[in-house]
Amino acid sequence: MIKACIFDLDGVIVDTAKYHYMAWKKLADQLNIPFNKKDNERLKGVSRMKSLEIILDLGNLNLRHEEKEELAQKKNNWYVEYINNMDKNELLPGVEEFIKNLKRKGIKIAIASASKNTKLILKRLNLEEVFDAVIDGTMISNAKPNPEIFLKASNYLNLKPEECVVFEDAVAGVQAAKRAGMKVIGVGEEEVLKGADKVIKNFKNINFTLIEFI
Ligand code: G6P
Ligand code: MG
Repeated sequence: MIKACIFDLDGVIVDTAKYHYMAWKKLADQLNIPFNKKDNERLKGVSRMKSLEIILDLGNLNLRHEEKEELAQKKNNWYVEYINNMDKNELLPGVEEFIKNLKRKGIKIAIASASKNTKLILKRLNLEEVFDAVIDGTMISNAKPNPEIFLKASNYLNLKPEECVVFEDAVAGVQAAKRAGMKVIGVGEEEVLKGADKVIKNFKNINFTLIEFI
């Protein structure tokens, strides 16, 4: 029986994926590295440094650690500037209602995001107090597709992995949830999120039955 829903944050709860893309694109342009939306799919769910390394690889650029740190910081400064102007309007369609529904049914809810900006984003959205557990990029040592982040979430909630269902928009996240032994609902395109147990476009008109019968 499902007792908890664990949500990825970027691209599932809120449309920050576009801001990540804008900031990476700005950096790639400055470095003269060709980078498009298709390349960007590979960055979803992936840590900041790993994302930078994927971009540098696209441009066959080999940099020293300190230079990479500097570029990652630069990207993050732009990204934080974008998300600082964000508010509840940028919650993805149907999310708020779905979460309310889960709470009404006594289902626990958690966030499991690789982002080190998780707390800032939840604050901007006025959602700081809503989740039973928030596991973010500052609390894990292994990035998705490693299952660590999801196992930490279920542990925190005192639940078994099979009692949790994960909502993910990234391929790496779907893999991580599967490796954790959890059910996964992909949020996005079916062709991209092939490994998921089910894929939804967004949370509009999605009700509790979705997780009851997964
Ligand atoms: C999420 C996003 C990634 C992002 C990562 C780290 O998983 O999907 O695109 O790179 O978080 O985010 P951060 O805010 O710490 O740079
Ligand atoms: Mg995501």
